[in-house]
Amino acid sequence: MLHRVTFSSQTFQTSNNAANVPSWWRSAVFYEVYIRSFQDSNDDGIGDLRGIAQRLPYLKSLGVDAIWITPFYPSPMADFGYDVSDYTGVDPSFGTMADFDSLIQAAHDLGIRIVIDLVLNHTSDVHPWFAEARSSRGNPKRDWYIWRDAKPDGSPPNNWTGFFGGSAWQWDAHTGQYYLHLFLDRQPDLNWRNPAVVQAMELVLRFWLDKGVDGFRLDAINFLIKHEAFPDMPIATNATGGDLVQYHIYVNNQPELHPLLQHVRRILESYPGDRVLIGETGTLKAPELSQFYGAGLDEIHLPMIVLPLHTTWQAQAMRECLLEFYAGLPERAVPHFVFSNHDDKRLITRYGLEHHRSIAMLLLTLSGSPILYYGDEIAMCDMYVPPEKRVDTAGMINPENYPGRDPNRTPMQWNASTNAGFTAETVESWLPINENRSTINVETQAQDPDSTLSFYKSLLHFRSSSRALREGSIQFLEDSGDVLAYLRECGDERLLIVINFGSDSPVLDLSVLTDHAHCVLSSTMQRPEAVAVAEVTLNAYESMLFRLTSNKEG
Ligand code: GLC
Ligand code: CA
Repeated sequence: MLHRVTFSSQTFQTSNNAANVPSWWRSAVFYEVYIRSFQDSNDDGIGDLRGIAQRLPYLKSLGVDAIWITPFYPSPMADFGYDVSDYTGVDPSFGTMADFDSLIQAAHDLGIRIVIDLVLNHTSDVHPWFAEARSSRGNPKRDWYIWRDAKPDGSPPNNWTGFFGGSAWQWDAHTGQYYLHLFLDRQPDLNWRNPAVVQAMELVLRFWLDKGVDGFRLDAINFLIKHEAFPDMPIATNATGGDLVQYHIYVNNQPELHPLLQHVRRILESYPGDRVLIGETGTLKAPELSQFYGAGLDEIHLPMIVLPLHTTWQAQAMRECLLEFYAGLPERAVPHFVFSNHDDKRLITRYGLEHHRSIAMLLLTLSGSPILYYGDEIAMCDMYVPPEKRVDTAGMINPENYPGRDPNRTPMQWNASTNAGFTAETVESWLPINENRSTINVETQAQDPDSTLSFYKSLLHFRSSSRALREGSIQFLEDSGDVLAYLRECGDERLLIVINFGSDSPVLDLSVLTDHAHCVLSSTMQRPEAVAVAEVTLNAYESMLFRLTSNKEG
């Protein structure tokens, strides 16, 4: 069935191009490399730093500007690196410090920036700081962590639960107190009210800044400071009126967090170069997100915006969600949209294969600096990992209901061979490799001009050449039914993006905007280069990018 869509007046405008000296991160495309799964270089079945270095030419040809590498520090791997036991080292399973130095050099030679993950909220339980802290109540490092007495009946000091389930308090029999852990019991929370902790971490920041990293992705940064009085947290039904959940209001975004973020920002700014802070803030609310930029834009440059991840793939819902965010953004703040990562379902698994290219179109044409998750560009999806192959602790707590994060962390599929080019054919990789590697792989798709990889590349390369996409304003259009439509403009360059969320084939009457719409790119990869018309029929689930010109220019 066909239905006609007409565009009426503009509803909103936000401009991203007000910076006098545009910083690279204001328009960069980031790419998350989950290190264990990207490329193994020494045939032990685990991805590593040299593996990333080997794949830099691929990343360059793909067209990304910067990569975020997940933690590679020494770790007992209870949370695969998010449990750090030495902040200034490299875990042997990922390589050596020399490997890191070569990687950063090679990346910079190609013009690719390197952002590393910094886990400030907690350490591993085998970190020497924690070993000291738990050795006795009188140890000078005792107060580097958060210790509390049991209630008179021996139960934990309050009702706080951890994000991986169960109480957030772990009993330490040796010293007779509980310690706090918002994540695994093997990840004790640091006490950021203690200036010695701040000083120790400052040295860590400086260590990596001296090495030339281009920035940090601050892990779980919203939780650094806990409410001083440790009150019980409220419990209520969740947003859909279902299960009872705990609202972590006394650990999330406490007022005393912000001076700390300003302090971290000042350290960064005392270094030459244009370094960036990306922050995992967990927030789903626009006003709260604004707080992480800082009142004077003096805290996190790019707080991660994960709301679209929690929004249904439906034109009106997505439009409302995006409008809310753009409206709530502080002036000159750059949105950093995250649609997929190592903690959540992959895009196809969440939204369906038919929408995959439209999701890329949206992410890469919104204003701001987006991030891709490795494998998105070849349409990797979650894999069923049988219980005996599961390694993510988070998936072992309640395996019936939650398989953990293994399904979305399977190795990158480079080619169609048994181990997909990720590791040697004779080796068992740390997580199984998806059988769909026969078609879902880089090598096959690189040869096919209509593949998802070719689509991503075209989109990324067009984006890098387009000021309208990198710096332009964004205006969402009204009354578009199943179609989300918006304009991106900068100087003379005027682009229109239309995304069909539905299975119908709507006819778009563009006459309000132009009479010449040249198709730059369609998600089908099947459109002629320059259709100069003011009326376009979209295919089911198709998304298109047009260059608009006036009649005279036509
Ligand atoms: C962040 C990471 C996640 C990790 C957690 C604890 O949410 O993205 O992978 O488990 O922090 O460090
Ligand atoms: Ca390896």
